[in-house]
Amino acid sequence: MYDIPFLDLPPIVGASGTVQLPGSKSISNRVLLLAGLAAGTTTVRGLLDSDDTRVMLDALRALGCLLGRADDGALRVGGLGGRLQVHEADLFLGNAGTAMRPLAATLAVLSTLQGGRFVLRGVPRMHERPIADLVDALRPLGCRIDDLGTPGYPPLSLQGTAGGRLALDAPIRVRGDVSSQFLTALLLALPLAAGTQDVAIEVEGELISKPYVEITLNLLARFGIAVQRQGWQRFTIPAGSAYATPGEIHVEGDASSASYFVALGAIAALGGAPLRIEGVGEGSIQGDIRFVDAAEAMGARVRRGPGWLEVHRGQWPLRPIRLDCTPIPDAAMTLAVMALFAEGTSRLDGIASWRVKETDRITAMAAELGKLGATVSAGDDFIEVTPPAGAWRAAAIHTYDDHRMAMCLSLAACHALLPGRAGDAQPVRILDPRCVAKTFPDYFEALFDVVEATAVPVIAIDGPTASGKGTLAAAVAVALGYGLLDSGALYRATGLAAVDAGLDPEIRPDDEAAVAALAARLPLRFGHGAEAGRTWFTGPRGREITDELRLESTGLLASRVSALPAVRAALHGLQLSFRRAPGLVADGRDMGTVVFPDAELKVFLTASAEQRAQRRHKQLISKGIPASIGALRADLEARDRRDSSRSVSPLKPAEDAQRLDNSGLGIDESVQQVLAWWQARRPFP
Ligand code: DC
Repeated sequence: MYDIPFLDLPPIVGASGTVQLPGSKSISNRVLLLAGLAAGTTTVRGLLDSDDTRVMLDALRALGCLLGRADDGALRVGGLGGRLQVHEADLFLGNAGTAMRPLAATLAVLSTLQGGRFVLRGVPRMHERPIADLVDALRPLGCRIDDLGTPGYPPLSLQGTAGGRLALDAPIRVRGDVSSQFLTALLLALPLAAGTQDVAIEVEGELISKPYVEITLNLLARFGIAVQRQGWQRFTIPAGSAYATPGEIHVEGDASSASYFVALGAIAALGGAPLRIEGVGEGSIQGDIRFVDAAEAMGARVRRGPGWLEVHRGQWPLRPIRLDCTPIPDAAMTLAVMALFAEGTSRLDGIASWRVKETDRITAMAAELGKLGATVSAGDDFIEVTPPAGAWRAAAIHTYDDHRMAMCLSLAACHALLPGRAGDAQPVRILDPRCVAKTFPDYFEALFDVVEATAVPVIAIDGPTASGKGTLAAAVAVALGYGLLDSGALYRATGLAAVDAGLDPEIRPDDEAAVAALAARLPLRFGHGAEAGRTWFTGPRGREITDELRLESTGLLASRVSALPAVRAALHGLQLSFRRAPGLVADGRDMGTVVFPDAELKVFLTASAEQRAQRRHKQLISKGIPASIGALRADLEARDRRDSSRSVSPLKPAEDAQRLDNSGLGIDESVQQVLAWWQARRPFP
């Protein structure tokens, strides 16, 4: 997950490979609530791990459900069997509509029948998302629901005294034309009240987002509730209904999340291999799977099977589309961005619900597509998009704390694929990329795994030993979400491999061919995620070498092997392979001069020999290694001489390098300086 202020996407020019989708948000939160209410333990596989499911899990835990993990990582939910264990709780539900609405209905019903007081609240935007239609449906039943803020919006308080009754003789009436989540909430909650009589729900107005109601009915059936439906107007929960766990349940991949990759395939899967999407496919119970038909209408070529989709580019540029998007409100946002790649104007109707989602999505979409140069017109329930006629503009895209804005606008990075646009290739900046954590925390990682990008930026940070370039490079890489190449580590590993292979640590020129052969196939493995920063040798002498790499003696070995031209040549390709989307920060001696001469920013970092000796001394002492400043300084100066006097790639600043003497600077100041230089080179307004 990129927890940084912005993420710059380089121009995308191809896509292939396989994406594993995270679990469906809609299914995950419904399953969690049902499992939490049912009698017995439910094992849930494929659950989405995201902000929205985390708030639901926290709420269930607060209500007394027992949550645990099976050996294979599946979640085990011990349900309440319809009986409240906890009668008072204050629940924070973030911005998760799929938690707020069903929990409000459930706790209103349970507190009325069994007694209790519950408060439901969320982030400020949650307090702007209407819930009045649900409250209006519940109050006539005898539920006491108090608005704690603006009437009709969360936060809410739900309370009752034990032994209360619900007025269920008349059908419960709920509006269906603003959000189907109100009906879903009632369908999930009212089986708790259907002990001795049928409970009927009647929908007022035309029901929107029917596919989401189908998911609800489908999952209710899995938990033992057979709702009878008359058209989309009347739903009856039969008397005697009670939740029963299915024992195990598997959550499908998220069909809305699939839409970004279906679109990516339609735009960028232009080689022989398709873009394969695993987690949803034929037979999905999610309505957004119908997005695939719309993508096909725009030109995508899609093959589908059980649990998978394979997408190729077909018609190019895409065909414009005119579509009533009522059945696919979420995935429709992806169509609005695909419209940028169509020849002509596209129009999406039936999207009024966009206005009450994570943000006002119609306004947000119009503003951001406009920034890219598109012509957009929008109304209460439609949006019309015409691709840029003139140049595509480099834009910093606001995401409005809306995961879908971030994910669908990331596709704008494909614009260089349009006929005649290769010359306009520009990065796209996504502000607050962390918002994808709502439903797809690793969205950008998944994207970078399957795209081919061009003009991937490199920041080269060169300088003498102990100048602090490793620390600086690592901090800059974290700040920008870029990868890191510590090229010194490759020379260090080569030195270790040479000694492992029985070569003399002196490493003489006649060892050159043998060492170069080792360098060409270093058995290195770098840690990722929780193992970031750790390094291993695989193979016969396999071991973790993280600490060995940092030894002074290894630095000396590296200094010797790095003077051999054949070794430098052998490591060249490996170093280039680190240049991957979204970007690279590379530190070493010749990053800006030899390996990445086209780096967008080159920094030459220095510090006085005295300062460097002191820093190295402090480092060693803190690790409990005895050291003398005088000896360290002499050693540093000897290495400087060897590194700068060797015939190949001597240590020297690139002509176009920014020089930074950090003798008097703290690490933060150096990082800020480099980031300021970087910002100045970016094309964003
Ligand atoms: O940066 P470092 O201390 O880990 O580098 C170890 C040695 O490797 C150093 O003496 C010089 C050499 N080196 C190099 O020649 N070229 C690089 N790009 C990086 C390191």
